[in-house]
Amino acid sequence: MRRLAPVLLAAFALFSAACEKKSQPQPSGEAPGGQAAQPGTAGTPPSSDTLLLGVVTSLTGAQATFGVSTRNGVEMAIKEANEAGGVKGKKLSVRVFDDQSKPEEAAQSVTRLITQDKVLVILGDVASSNSLAMAEKAQAAGVPMITPASTNPAVTQKGDFIFRVCFIDPFQGFVMAKFARENLKLDRVAILQDNKSAYSIGLTEVFTAKFKEMGGTLLATESYSQGDTDFRAQLTSIKKLKPQGIYVPGYYNDVGIIARQARELGLTVPMMGGDGWDSEKLFELAGDTLDGSYFSNHYSPQNPDPRVKNFIANYKAAYKAVPDALAALGYDAARVAIAALERSKDLSGPAIRDAIAQTQGFEGVAGKISLDAQRNAVKSAAILKVANGTTEFVTTINP
Ligand code: PHE
Repeated sequence: MRRLAPVLLAAFALFSAACEKKSQPQPSGEAPGGQAAQPGTAGTPPSSDTLLLGVVTSLTGAQATFGVSTRNGVEMAIKEANEAGGVKGKKLSVRVFDDQSKPEEAAQSVTRLITQDKVLVILGDVASSNSLAMAEKAQAAGVPMITPASTNPAVTQKGDFIFRVCFIDPFQGFVMAKFARENLKLDRVAILQDNKSAYSIGLTEVFTAKFKEMGGTLLATESYSQGDTDFRAQLTSIKKLKPQGIYVPGYYNDVGIIARQARELGLTVPMMGGDGWDSEKLFELAGDTLDGSYFSNHYSPQNPDPRVKNFIANYKAAYKAVPDALAALGYDAARVAIAALERSKDLSGPAIRDAIAQTQGFEGVAGKISLDAQRNAVKSAAILKVANGTTEFVTTINP
């Protein structure tokens, strides 16, 4: 059910090609480090009658599916808000920049959105390393930023203008360590981490500490660098230690290849991962080699809540795909921003920041959002099992 319809793939291919052709950042925000003419409301030039939001996300590059889903979710929320009359009597519009899955591009895009487009709020990115670079700029300029999906704790520690609508990795790492010990009954585990990703390094630390605290043995931590294509040396070392499971807290584009190579080497034990696995591309890369593996995530499309079902139906109608966690979180982040703009006493950065900070009990499609004093959402996590090239909901773990 997570497979993209061919029509969306085709649209995405065209879209990516259009983005890649441009090499110079344009004032209207087109091109690498730039990005993205937008369908629908997005791309509407800002005027005094529109309230402009900025999005920075990975529409191309290593984690491209993250950005496409995020953008879709944000656009859907903006469209719905405009259909319901807009905010403070004005329509909303959004300018989307592609950071090409690179922190430097993410930082530059934020600067451009702030200095040239004068956006009121910035939404993005997914990969924590990109959001860390963005947060630095947004905080310095006093423009509120909400990351939909970055889970590394350091992102919101950049300052009081930086928020997130998802849980953080000290919780996510704990969730999988607990599941590994209590549900899978694993005693001996190895880790394969991405040493170029703040997210992967952070999850490795937490998982290691929690798994050991709960009486498990960590056999080894092996590393790779994002974009590597040969993981056989690390996997061979891990195999010699006879683990009962392998924690691979990386992104789908690497994990898909890791899984395939592990199986080729005869390493058949379950793998475990985090939200970074969440992409239909994972299954294209891994085939059935991840069947029987597990990952933690923000949301399950199998959630029977009517609000979630409604969101899925609308998203499918618009984008011909089942929304993944990024689409759900992009939608939630945009709705939190829109609600804050509506409440805010004026449209200055500090007023909008204060309004976002008041977010409590907000009904999102990826769970209820209550921001704590550190500007993080406190939420439960879902454990998903991979089976037949798709995911099955297993359980929810509460904070
Ligand atoms: N949590 C990941 C990070 O911080 C990003 C992510 C979120 C990826 C949700 C997939 C789904 O880097």
